[in-house]
Order: sequence, then C-alpha cells, then structure tokens
Amino acid sequence: MYRINDNYQKLPGSYLFSTIAKKVSAFTAENPDKTVIRLGIGDVTQPLTGPVIDALHKAVDEMAAGETFHGYAPDLGYAFLREAIAENDFRMRGCGISADEIFVSDGAKCDSGNIQELFAVDSRIAVCDPVYPVYVDSNVMAGRTGSYDPASGRWSDVIYMPCTEGNGFVAELPSRRPDIIYLCFPNNPTGAAIKKEQLQKWVDYANKEGCVIIYDAAYEAYISEQDVPHSIYECEGAKACAIEIRSFSKNAGFTGLRLGYTVVPKELTSGGASLRDMWARRHGTKYNGAPYIVQRAGEACYTPEGKESIRSLVAYYMENARTIRDGLKEMGYTVYGGVNSPYIWLKTIDGMSSWEFFDYLLNQANVVGTPGSGFGPSGEGFFRLTAFGTHENSKAALERIAGI
Ligand SMILES: Cc1ncc(COP(=O)(O)O)c(C=O)c1O
Repeated sequence: MYRINDNYQKLPGSYLFSTIAKKVSAFTAENPDKTVIRLGIGDVTQPLTGPVIDALHKAVDEMAAGETFHGYAPDLGYAFLREAIAENDFRMRGCGISADEIFVSDGAKCDSGNIQELFAVDSRIAVCDPVYPVYVDSNVMAGRTGSYDPASGRWSDVIYMPCTEGNGFVAELPSRRPDIIYLCFPNNPTGAAIKKEQLQKWVDYANKEGCVIIYDAAYEAYISEQDVPHSIYECEGAKACAIEIRSFSKNAGFTGLRLGYTVVPKELTSGGASLRDMWARRHGTKYNGAPYIVQRAGEACYTPEGKESIRSLVAYYMENARTIRDGLKEMGYTVYGGVNSPYIWLKTIDGMSSWEFFDYLLNQANVVGTPGSGFGPSGEGFFRLTAFGTHENSKAALERIAGI
C-alpha cells in the first residue's frame, strides 16, 4: 500500500474558524430574529476601486483579440508589474530592491506557506505567539515541528516567542538560536507595529547568528506612524538575511482577485547557494503565474489615481478601526492595535477566557469576533475584532456592545 505524508496526521483540526462557524450557526438557528454582525475573519467588504476595475476591463478586452491576447505569464511575473513594485514599494522608500528580486504570486498565504521548502528539514523555526497559523502549519506538513502537545497548544521543536502586554506585543530575541524566524508586522492578530530600531535588532541578530527572517508585511498599507518601517529592507543589512512577503489583499481589496509577491534578494545566500535562484527555480517548476488581467490590475494600484484610491480604501477601514478602538476605550476596555493595523486586540473583561468572551459577545450583543487563544496560548484572555466591516456594521457593533 502506498504511504501518505504522516505529518498531515499530526495537524490538529482547524479548530478556530470551524468552531466559530458552528457556534454562530447554532446561535442563528436558535435566534432566527437576530442579525449577527461579523467582525471575525479578516476579509474585506469594500469593492475594488475604479482604477483597478478599469484596468481589469481593459485587460479582459485585450484577451479577446489575437494581437493582444496573453497566454502563460512569465514565471516570475510580468516586468510591468515587477518594475512598478520595485520602484514604488522599495526604491521610493530608499530600499535598493530590483525587479529581478521580486516574484509575483497569487497571494501571501501561498508564499508564506511555500517558502519553507527552501530550507533543510531539520531547520528550527521560531514564531511569535500568538501567530498567523500558516507559518507553523506549513512547517508541520514538512515535518519540521516535532510533536504536538494539546495541553499547551505547542509543538516540541518550535521556538515560541510570546508577544504580551509586557513587551508591547513585539517579541524579544529568542534565547535559543533558530534557523528561520517568522515575523509579521503590522501584526495579525495583535495589531502591533514594530519600530525601525526594534526591527534593526532582529536584522542584526539574524546576520550575527546566521538566521533567515521571513517578514510578512501583508498589512504594510495600514502603517500610519512615522517611525514604523514599511519594509524590512529599510533596515541596514536586511538584504543579507530577510525575505519579505506582501499582498494586494488588504490594501487594494484583492482577497477574491488574488495577487501578492515575495522579495528574495540576491545577497541572500547559504553555503554558496542563492536563495533567489532557488525560489526562481521553484516558481519555474511549480507555478505558472498570476493571471495577466490580475497583474494589470495590480499595476493600476501604482498609478497616481490608483495610489489615491488605495489611500481612500485604507482610510475607510481605518475609520472603522478608530470607531471600534475609541468606542471600546470609552466603555473601559483595554484595547491595543488599530493604529497601524486593521486589527483591534482587546483584553477580555471580568477574567473571562477568550472563548467565554466570544460566547458573551455573541449572546449578549450578537457580534462575532475571534478568540485570541485561537492564535496561540499567549492570546488567551484577548479577543480580535477586525476593521474590515462596513461603517454601518462597525458602529452598530459598538452600540450593541455598549448596550450590554
Ligand atoms: C499575516 C497574513 N499574511 C498573509 C495573509 C494572506 O494574504 P493573501 O490574501 O495575499 O493570501 C493574511 C490574511 O489574512 C495574513 O493575515
């Protein structure tokens, strides 16, 4: 009999969102007259912007004529998009990233899950706790994480770096040396941002200890404060130790369209091997490119009108973040995030666990959020609300919570 990859059997069930879905459907079945406001999952609600829609229409028309039709995209992405990214996301911020270090993909989830393929199976990973689950689960599938302890919610061979109120939700350098360090800023789920001098310490550590940093900057567009870096390459020496992953999902609303990219600098080498060349080889072998029409839509995000439309979209969600953050504060909640990020991370009240608070909010206010403990043990006692709803729903949710 053929054998399966046993590592998949080690994965605990995707408890978090399936449990939320079950609880919400049980509640709505019992309370058909109540409308539930969902501020749980991180999906956007606003439509694509005008410049993006125009670019899509134009590209679709091109596909209808023989002279302008496009088949397979180049493995690494169309030059028009990679040049626009290199110029706008990096060179304009003083980071010397060139177009041939940029790999266009169909999103940050795939890239953040696939990137671990470049590293040895016995590499040790370090993750923040709480954490976006993809980093850990993709390493479980690859057989890198040891055994799971359901009591602690931790894997034996993973280094966990707690992000707590005490450290402002920015992990401290690990006491044991990892090979691969996953960092995500602005952070999902805590909404925390990292200052440039803090990130520089991580870059210096990685260069000194011979680690690689996988830097997930999916929420970069939400940064509003001056001393918060938009890219890890703003730090000196980062090109020698860091891979950066970006997405068009949360800035431009591409969650359903699918577009992202990964930067693998040429300076990134191990034992004489170029990680950039390895990732290029991987793309060539396993990936056939994001659709032409979607890459044209991505390019439209970098025109003056496109940039302005994205600023408005981000401002729309950040107004929700302000509504939720300020409203909860007025009610006496302890609230974090929502300044450089669309996530609000609040402390539960009356000593409730994250799940108790979930039930409390669902039953008393008919509002759905995400229990912090679902992202890792250090998330216990916290709760995540997203700013990705509509203005109306965000305000209504706050009024309902105030009315409990
Ligand atoms: C930290 C982080 N990275 C990546 C993603 C996925 O982005 P994409 O839609 O580009 O796959 C998400 C989505 O919620 C996320 O929170």
